[in-house]
Amino acid sequence: MSRKIVVTSALPYANGPIHIGHLVEYLQTDIWVRFHKLCGNECLYFCADDTHGTPVMISAKKAGITPEEMIDNVHKEHKADFDGFHIEFDNYYSTHSPENKEFSELIFNRLNEKGSIVKRDVEQAYCENCKMSLPDRFVRGSCPKCKAENQYGDSCEVCGTTYRPSDLVNPYCATCNTPPVMKTSEHYFFRLADYEQPLRELLTSGHTQQSVANKLDEWFSAGLKDWDISRDGPYFGFKIPGEENKYFYVWLDAPIGYMASAKNYCDNNNLDFDALWPGTNSGKGGEGQYELYHFIGKDIMYFHALFWPAMLIASGIKTAEKLFVHGFLTVNGEKMSKSRGTFIKASTYLNHLNPEYLRYYYASKLSDSIDDIDLKVDDFINKINSEVVGKIANLASRSVPMLTKNLDSTLGKLDEEGQDLIKKLVTASEQIVNDYEKLKYAAVVRTITALADEANRFVEIKQPWATIKTDPEITRTNLTAVINAMRILTIYLKPILPKFAESVEKILNIEPLRLADLDQVLENCKIGKFERLAERIDEKQVNAMIEESKIETQNTETATQNSELKTENSAFEPIKPECTIDDFAKIDLRVAKVKTAETVEGADKLLKLVLDVGGIEKNVLAGIAKAYKPEDLVGKMVVVLANLKPRKMKFGLSEGMILASGPGGSEVFMLTVDSGAKPGESIH
Ligand code: MSP
Ligand code: ZN
Repeated sequence: MSRKIVVTSALPYANGPIHIGHLVEYLQTDIWVRFHKLCGNECLYFCADDTHGTPVMISAKKAGITPEEMIDNVHKEHKADFDGFHIEFDNYYSTHSPENKEFSELIFNRLNEKGSIVKRDVEQAYCENCKMSLPDRFVRGSCPKCKAENQYGDSCEVCGTTYRPSDLVNPYCATCNTPPVMKTSEHYFFRLADYEQPLRELLTSGHTQQSVANKLDEWFSAGLKDWDISRDGPYFGFKIPGEENKYFYVWLDAPIGYMASAKNYCDNNNLDFDALWPGTNSGKGGEGQYELYHFIGKDIMYFHALFWPAMLIASGIKTAEKLFVHGFLTVNGEKMSKSRGTFIKASTYLNHLNPEYLRYYYASKLSDSIDDIDLKVDDFINKINSEVVGKIANLASRSVPMLTKNLDSTLGKLDEEGQDLIKKLVTASEQIVNDYEKLKYAAVVRTITALADEANRFVEIKQPWATIKTDPEITRTNLTAVINAMRILTIYLKPILPKFAESVEKILNIEPLRLADLDQVLENCKIGKFERLAERIDEKQVNAMIEESKIETQNTETATQNSELKTENSAFEPIKPECTIDDFAKIDLRVAKVKTAETVEGADKLLKLVLDVGGIEKNVLAGIAKAYKPEDLVGKMVVVLANLKPRKMKFGLSEGMILASGPGGSEVFMLTVDSGAKPGESIH
């Protein structure tokens, strides 16, 4: 019996690019969805951009565009990144959509009818210069306890104390530095504690992994607090019904975005949303025809294990069968770091490496636990080269070309030994299916590589390269076994390596493989042409990717470390440790004339500039190729940090840095000085 399944991944924020940390989640989910499709189940995968909130509003303002323009641009970028990694959504939508507005209002009204919404006055910081209320992370000042300067409005990074923004000593607005005033405003709260009982029942019934349930227990013990679900305007979001200047807090409408994406898909595909996700019409959740699963990272558990199911239970809408929580990505044992070049955007990765290699590597690391997973660069290179290239693709290169060249591309029949080999491989399917279903991908990969070892041993024993000269028909029989082994491994690998699988299907001249095809063997038929299935990774490619990541994050202010948004964050990175006036005096800024500008092969974001700094020439590699054409730059007067210590980079020596600002990509604006200035003049 085939199953009907709906799957979601958390909705990425629309104020920053997709990076390899996010990809842990989208790849984990995509592999699961593809696995179910391979099994012949109907599986629908929904996601969307999470578009609302203060950071999006402020980023858009800084870029001089409307929030709508900003989220449109980001939507295209996100979609391109996901496509690049073969992440196949059935719908990739937006929370800024009519469906989402309708559902948000519906759910809010139902909570209200239940008496679970209360209004209360809240004292909040307000910036009279920016003319807006400041979320906690947008107020900074000195810690009331340890007096450390430059701390956020909710907690001190030095002594760990948590407090309210009004407790800060000498507070100021993080955007414009003006001291805020305190204002009182009425807010809406959702009484989460009203749903403690059903939430406890849900979470003790295997809704999440045990380690997550334990964490939730701590939250229950601490007591469930009312949740502030409103924000004062100006705010980018949905207006609260009946209010003039109050909006739903972004986290209220974000998870509702899962439903909006599904509804939009149903409307476009003639499907009954009520059967897919029951409750919006009837107010009676029930089971429906589809199983529902959410995938999320551990930083957003509180929202997904408490607020979200509580909202659904309160409004009589179906809750998920399961919430799958994963850990965080570290690179070489540490948090992703911009200065080390390990804060790698999805698009940067794609400039250098095959997306399937990251799919394979993550799969080889992932389990059902919420422990962090580590990408070790050396391990990544070794694993791909030894397993994907050396063990798996190698089976095809050892068999297919020989059959094509010497045996008329025609498979024979399996003999007894060949049948034994194939049987061994097919027998593993139960284990593999079980492990996929339970998210134990590392175990799946271990089983598959062990089977590939088995098949390679078969080749070593049969020595087709020797027998081809003496006994072509025996060779054909043995190659038939190897090629069938390859085909079975491809079925197992297909959720992880979909493009690899497509290439194998093409080589073998067969229809798209499904799990049910394990029952058959390929015999007495002609196969297609050989093509290479995988290339080794050269360390240089990885280094180039890391170099490019360093450059990208050094020249322009890049998007937010989004995790801060979980507590309502600033659109900016934390201010760095203080620098003295003496440190600052070391900076030597000069006017420079661009003499030549050219693109850099292999680095599509870089331009190589030769600058005239008053008779001295300097080579500069600048990450501005997406924003400027080289020919438009020649003759321009720019400002350069002239005494930057020269740095040897993959694409050459860089002896300075030009001043530019902007969110990145095509939105980078160089500081130019008017033509009266002379090259080499100091800037003060
Ligand atoms: N917008 C919210 C989710 C709303 S869902 C209704 C959000 N966005 S996010 O862009 O910050 O993160 C999206 C998903 O990616 C989250 O599940 C998050 O846990 C995951 N990850 C973001 N960075 C990650 C790592 N470094 N490592 C692993 N997962 C990461 O949260
Ligand atoms: Zn301000």
